[in-house]
Amino acid sequence: MHLYSSLAFPILLSAPAAHAWGVVGHATVATIATHYLNDAGKSYISTKLGPGVTMASVASWADNFRYTSAGRFSAPFHFIDAEDTPPTSCGVDLTRDCGPTGCVVSAINNYTSRANDASLSASNQKQALEFLIHFIGDITQPLHDEAEELGGNHIPVTWDGTATNLHSCWDTQMVEKAAGGTNSTATLTSFSNKLIAEIDGGMYSSAKDGWISCDNVATASDCALAWAQDANALNCQYVLKANETGMELDGSYYDGAVPYIELQIAKGGYRLGAWVNALAAAA
Ligand SMILES: *[C@@H]1O[C@H](CO)[C@@H](O)[C@H](O)[C@H]1NC(C)=O
Ligand SMILES: *[C@@H]1O[C@H](CO)[C@@H](O)[C@H](O)[C@H]1NC(C)=O
Ligand SMILES: *[C@@H]1O[C@H](CO)[C@@H](O)[C@H](O)[C@H]1NC(C)=O
Repeated sequence: MHLYSSLAFPILLSAPAAHAWGVVGHATVATIATHYLNDAGKSYISTKLGPGVTMASVASWADNFRYTSAGRFSAPFHFIDAEDTPPTSCGVDLTRDCGPTGCVVSAINNYTSRANDASLSASNQKQALEFLIHFIGDITQPLHDEAEELGGNHIPVTWDGTATNLHSCWDTQMVEKAAGGTNSTATLTSFSNKLIAEIDGGMYSSAKDGWISCDNVATASDCALAWAQDANALNCQYVLKANETGMELDGSYYDGAVPYIELQIAKGGYRLGAWVNALAAAA
């Protein structure tokens, strides 16, 4: 379904698109993950990233790297362009949707094995872990598992009267509003603690085991595909359900989106913590 031809918005074609969760989303995923590290996981992070380097501080590195000439190859690794037909039918097909240059599923597979590959240099293993910290966040953002209108980048909307696009609002504006601010230690602490409380004893406590039911680092591609399917389904449930073209999102659309944003960020963080613990156990 093409609500608009991409040619109607030529300027967007040259602009950086598809940033995935913005800085607050990624740093919150990493902060939640850090909370769930066991002793082996903590020591793994400290060994691989360096003493005192937090997961939150490297969580957005991959978004900067992709726009450098050295990092351009990694741009397709941030998403998978599911060629489904939301909101009627959602679904990810790895053969159909993961292009020859790779996608977030193949990237999670690749960097999971590279993070523990002792034949690689320490700096290559560190970079693999930094990619994973980012991509396990990206894959929970529904529009990162969607080809429709370039993952919503070509769906023009407004946010509090300012022209933007649907993808950007899911990455950044709605997340910052839900978190209560832009990136800072205070914002990350309060937003993470709120979601951690829901994971431990609140509305996510019965769902959380399902989030990490696939936790075998030896079958990373299967796990990542399941995670992509899980997030992609939300495009039919909510994200692309209305005709969002031209819509002001800072209103009822945002109110309906918050539960999904919080769920996906909590899920990404809980999964990332479990994945690092599993990597540490396999190292
Ligand atoms: C976001 O804030 C955290 C905590 O203060 C910090 O570690 C991280 O580097 C910040 N991220 C960016 C991209 O500035
Ligand atoms: C795996 O990661 C390396 C290092 O970033 C990269 O050169 C290679 O293209 C990746 N392979 C795949 C299949 O994504
Ligand atoms: C979506 O809404 C826009 C703006 O109201 C309208 O121009 C367009 O025709 C609608 N598209 C569909 C497929 O209904």
